[in-house]
Amino acid sequence: MISPEDFKTIAQAVKNRTKIEIIDSNVNSVKRYVKKQLSDSLSFDEYLDIINCDENEFNKLLQVVTINETYFFREEKYFTLLDKMILPDLKERGINPFLWSAATSTGEEAISLALLYNKHYSESFKKHPVIATDIDVLSMDRLRVNRYGKNSFRNDGAIFHDLIYQNSTINDNCCTINSNIMKLIEHKRINLITDSYNEKLLIKPSVILLCNVLIYMDSELREIIIDKAAKILDYGGYLIVSSANTAFINHPLLELVQRDNSFYFKKIAREDDDK
Ligand SMILES: C[S@@+](CC[C@H](N)C(=O)[O-])C[C@H]1O[C@@H](n2cnc3c(N)ncnc32)[C@H](O)[C@@H]1O
Repeated sequence: MISPEDFKTIAQAVKNRTKIEIIDSNVNSVKRYVKKQLSDSLSFDEYLDIINCDENEFNKLLQVVTINETYFFREEKYFTLLDKMILPDLKERGINPFLWSAATSTGEEAISLALLYNKHYSESFKKHPVIATDIDVLSMDRLRVNRYGKNSFRNDGAIFHDLIYQNSTINDNCCTINSNIMKLIEHKRINLITDSYNEKLLIKPSVILLCNVLIYMDSELREIIIDKAAKILDYGGYLIVSSANTAFINHPLLELVQRDNSFYFKKIAREDDDK
């Protein structure tokens, strides 16, 4: 393990670059990871120089700092909402939507969106209707590798698993999603806290999934992210956050709506509020 002072220095370096705080449950993994990088020929100060100057080494550290847990159709009730209500509603309004998986991790959430887009918009495909973003580019690289093991399949989400099997091949217990689905997804790095969504996305999404990410942030950062998400969301568009976060959100552009056992936010159509 590295010393508490060295850990503080690493945590500050991460915070300076990303505004991300290392959460308590991850402190030991980060300490262990940094310790493993050090050797007789690499001192702590030299390692610090490396992460400050070498993007790839910093990204490796970031992968340890962030929590990457995800799986297909996580929080199934929201995908049921998308399948039964949101996508049919957008289609009826003549909208061919952009769907944004805003903290996609290894991409299962974006693939789940692409599978539903494929189901509902098979006659009117457009280029990259699904945008997958994350600060952790190394985890997001799984979208390029496109090999998903059994950890990506859980009981939660199981009602949609047939949709995955119909659009994939399984080899050596790993699932490879068909290329027609993967082609629907564009992925890029976005830091939800510091980046401009307008400049990075260049489109207005009709659906934003901000799931299992706000929970790791304090109220000030959550408000910054929700404000930016509310502004980039298309009028009449939908914002979905994890169940645990719904209660924290109060924004003048967003109306809280309940349907069955799910809460979601809809952007209120007011012309001049998102300038
Ligand atoms: C637990 S995963 C959630 C994955 C997926 N949304 C889900 O619900 O299954 C949290 C993800 O948030 C990402 N993340 C954390 N802070 C971020 C930030 N400031 N900007 C972008 N992504 C961030 C992490 O890299 C990680 O991949």
